[in-house]
Amino acid sequence: MKILVTGGAGFVGSFLCESLHKSGYEVRIFDNYEPQVHSGSQSNLGALLQPNGLPLKGIEILYGDTRSPTQLDAALKDVDAVIHLAAQVGVGQSMYEIHRYVDHNTVGTAVLLELLASRKHSVKKLVVASSMSIYGEGGARCSNCGDVTPTLRDGGQMKLGDWEVRCPICNRTASPTATNELKPVLPTSIYAITKRDQEEMCLVVGRAYDIPAVALRFFNIYGPRQSLGNPYTGVAAIFSSRLLNNHAPVVFEDGNQTRDFVHVTDIVQAITLALAKDEANGQVFNVGTGRPTSIKDVATILARKMRRDVAPRIENKFREGDVRHCYADIDKIRRHLGYKPAVELEVGIEDLIAWAEDQQAEDRFEHAAAELAKRGLAR
Ligand code: UD1
Repeated sequence: MKILVTGGAGFVGSFLCESLHKSGYEVRIFDNYEPQVHSGSQSNLGALLQPNGLPLKGIEILYGDTRSPTQLDAALKDVDAVIHLAAQVGVGQSMYEIHRYVDHNTVGTAVLLELLASRKHSVKKLVVASSMSIYGEGGARCSNCGDVTPTLRDGGQMKLGDWEVRCPICNRTASPTATNELKPVLPTSIYAITKRDQEEMCLVVGRAYDIPAVALRFFNIYGPRQSLGNPYTGVAAIFSSRLLNNHAPVVFEDGNQTRDFVHVTDIVQAITLALAKDEANGQVFNVGTGRPTSIKDVATILARKMRRDVAPRIENKFREGDVRHCYADIDKIRRHLGYKPAVELEVGIEDLIAWAEDQQAEDRFEHAAAELAKRGLAR
């Protein structure tokens, strides 16, 4: 089988392509080498190249942008499946680079789907990278009203440093619960809206044209190769880059907000299962670990393991579009596809550190923070 992986040179894509290649798939990598992600970092594809720099047998590397029908059409030639990972990924940045995010993520996916809808092709499976961010706030329970679907927190409430989620019915503080796929989606950033678009567009077009499609809602992915020079990337990479430069990780809110941190190799496991199993077709699945970890704990674990005596700087500021708590209920993917997360955060973070210590980590956090502050998006 020949698999096209859009975004195949990226953080998740490169691990996926290595694993698919090892399992005997032919892999065509399609990537635009986004400078914000790739500049200054070593290639993620080293393991897929021969000593002379050419790709290994069974690997093709195409430079291309998903917004270009011509480039994408060429990339689709003779492929049996498409794994669509290419996207811009910064939640904060998406709140001011609105056109760019919609263009790459929503329009790029539209280009892919229109080609599949209108040209002769050999694609028999489509897996799309969706995101937990489409849920907005995660599941919550109120002691008075039971399970509730909270909306985005109120600005006035947060100005007072009151960070927790409230019950939408009685306004009491609600406690987080595991979020399952039935929770209504309520995206709270442009990035999240584009991820919902990607998910829904792939499922709708897949159904209409008989192309089995699967959407995987990734929770917070971490691991080696998450761009250290990109200040708009995930929090574990940003904190690593800060610590490598002996700077304090800067924590928004009070640091007790939680996320479900899932190691990149577990994401590869989930994609591979979705690709291979017919039971996945037409479905959406959460991909996480089922365990919440606070952002303050991530900063502390990283500093301890990196032997940096640097305490996190708790900002008590709020980043527009951020949710307070979201962790995955992974029962569906466990039962239907046999997914089982294998990497604990305390262990997986060591992979990230071992890799990061070998990199030139340019800390551009202050630049990104200033961009948000200037626009009133972190306050
Ligand atoms: C992340 C990903 C998104 C993905 C989603 C679900 C990024 C930029 N975002 O969104 O692509 O779809 O997970 O997998 O990779 N924080 C700090 N200090 C910082 C940076 C972040 O305190 O320097 C806090 C944020 O305010 C937030 C939490 O850490 O509360 C997580 O932020 P982030 O890593 O950006 O992830 P998500 O917004 O959850």
